[in-house]
Amino acid sequence: MKFNPNVIECASAPIAEAWSWVNDPTSGRLIDMCQAVPGHLPAQSLLDHLAELIKQGKGTTYTDICGISALREALADNINHRYQAHINAEDLMITAGCNQAFCSVIDTLCATGDEVIIPLPCYFNHEMWLSARGVKTQFLPFNTQTAIPDHNLVAPLINSKTRAIVLVTPNNPTGAIYSQECIAVFHQIAKQHNIALIIDETYRDFSDGTVPPHTLFQSSDWSDNFIHLYSFSKVFSLTGYRTGAVAASAEFFDQMKKVQDCTAISAPHVGQLAALYGLQNLDNWKADKAQQLQERAIAIKAAFQHPELKYRLISAGAYFAYVEHPFKKPSREVVKRLIQEFEIVTLPGSYFGAEQDNFIRFAFANIDQNRFDEVIERLIKSQKTLQ
Ligand SMILES: Cc1ncc(COP(=O)(O)O)c(C=O)c1O
Repeated sequence: MKFNPNVIECASAPIAEAWSWVNDPTSGRLIDMCQAVPGHLPAQSLLDHLAELIKQGKGTTYTDICGISALREALADNINHRYQAHINAEDLMITAGCNQAFCSVIDTLCATGDEVIIPLPCYFNHEMWLSARGVKTQFLPFNTQTAIPDHNLVAPLINSKTRAIVLVTPNNPTGAIYSQECIAVFHQIAKQHNIALIIDETYRDFSDGTVPPHTLFQSSDWSDNFIHLYSFSKVFSLTGYRTGAVAASAEFFDQMKKVQDCTAISAPHVGQLAALYGLQNLDNWKADKAQQLQERAIAIKAAFQHPELKYRLISAGAYFAYVEHPFKKPSREVVKRLIQEFEIVTLPGSYFGAEQDNFIRFAFANIDQNRFDEVIERLIKSQKTLQ
């Protein structure tokens, strides 16, 4: 049997490789800062509600391709509140998670040989999907001082094959949160060149909730060039229920529905019921968790100020801290040894695109902040042995 060369060439799934380096996954000493998963269960009331629905046989069927209307309405309300905007349920399609949303959006926009612009470092699944589809990724260089992409470097990368610019904010892997102004400039560039600006906002509930993450939804013509991706995975701790969403134009959805119909048919019904319950009932629960994570981001920034530490924090926010390691070694080797000798599980920068070998991603959502000092102690010890 012959395989698709694009898939053969595509990088392997990183989390599994990092875990393959762990000697004893049950070790009590292990500090898991590897995968971006919430460190807590969903709200008990959500679980009780779902259990009741499931007992009644609800959630077993396909739904409309675009998702259940009540969920689309609730998400439109949520977006309008968060972004001070006026979008409608029809502007939304529910997907089988945000990753599946990205895949379908790319399939709707790009044919083999087309190009997409992404800042470095990038979320590995975005790069993997583009490469599996034979779409070329054009990378914007990494700004190692601010972790904010430089819009001045975009124009030279745009040509007749360019279909989209992709931003992730709050960012995976850097945790950087792009300002409204930064996002507006990228949008302006996308508009000028009539390409899409895709923004993956999986972590938007973990940034400061008092100001809209951006103002794009506030323009009446927002959907001409803007595509918003969202996930219910992290906000309601529902990673396994595979529920996310896309906001885009009716014209875009006319095409994307074909892709959705062939792949997901509809997003998981049970996941949609869970997300609906969350949007309708869990504002306070969500605000509590967001508050905890914001405190954790402050705590990790403080922990990395330790005077003996030679690892340099580049940026931190939402779920992640992106750190420059002090060794003249590839990040895979550093991470492997941090796992095997110091029992801290992180991900090498090299998984997040070219020229990332000096960096490591720490996913801090998984662990309690009272373990940060222990992390720093072990990193300081590693400075002696990893040289
Ligand atoms: C930037 C980004 N997008 C999407 C996802 C996946 O979201 P979902 O679980 O909704 O597919 C993740 C998960 O780590 C992510 O970091």
